Amino acid sequence: MEFMHWSESLSVGIKEIDEQHKKLIGMINTFYDHLQKDNKSAMKELLTAMAQYTVTHFKTEEKYFDLYKYPNAASHKKEHAKFIEEVTSVQSRLAQGQPVLSLELTSFIKKWVTEHIMGEDKKYAPFLTSKGLK
Ligand SMILES: [Fe+2]
Ligand SMILES: [Fe+2]
Repeated sequence: MEFMHWSESLSVGIKEIDEQHKKLIGMINTFYDHLQKDNKSAMKELLTAMAQYTVTHFKTEEKYFDLYKYPNAASHKKEHAKFIEEVTSVQSRLAQGQPVLSLELTSFIKKWVTEHIMGEDKKYAPFLTSKGLK
């Protein structure tokens, strides 16, 4: 069974963003597969790719916030920044040889992504779709 599943309930009604969320969820699933197989080097590589893709995704959302003057932008950007900070600290602990590639980390990422999409991302959906994004 898939570790994390994208469903319509996660949709924000904007195709480009839904596709990015799907890709991110796909990466989390692959990460979980590597974890199951205890493939540390693959996990390490994927963590870097996920971190990069997350930055790309956050930039996409923030580009639209700026473009349409989304009133909730500041607090949303703060959540993004906090997550990036968290991932960066995992990466540096990893670089120091600490055992951080765990189920706990995978579950944290899954939980954060789900709660962020269901919470903050869903909040901008009516605003951005009212500006014509779809
Ligand atoms: Fe998002
Ligand atoms: Fe977001």
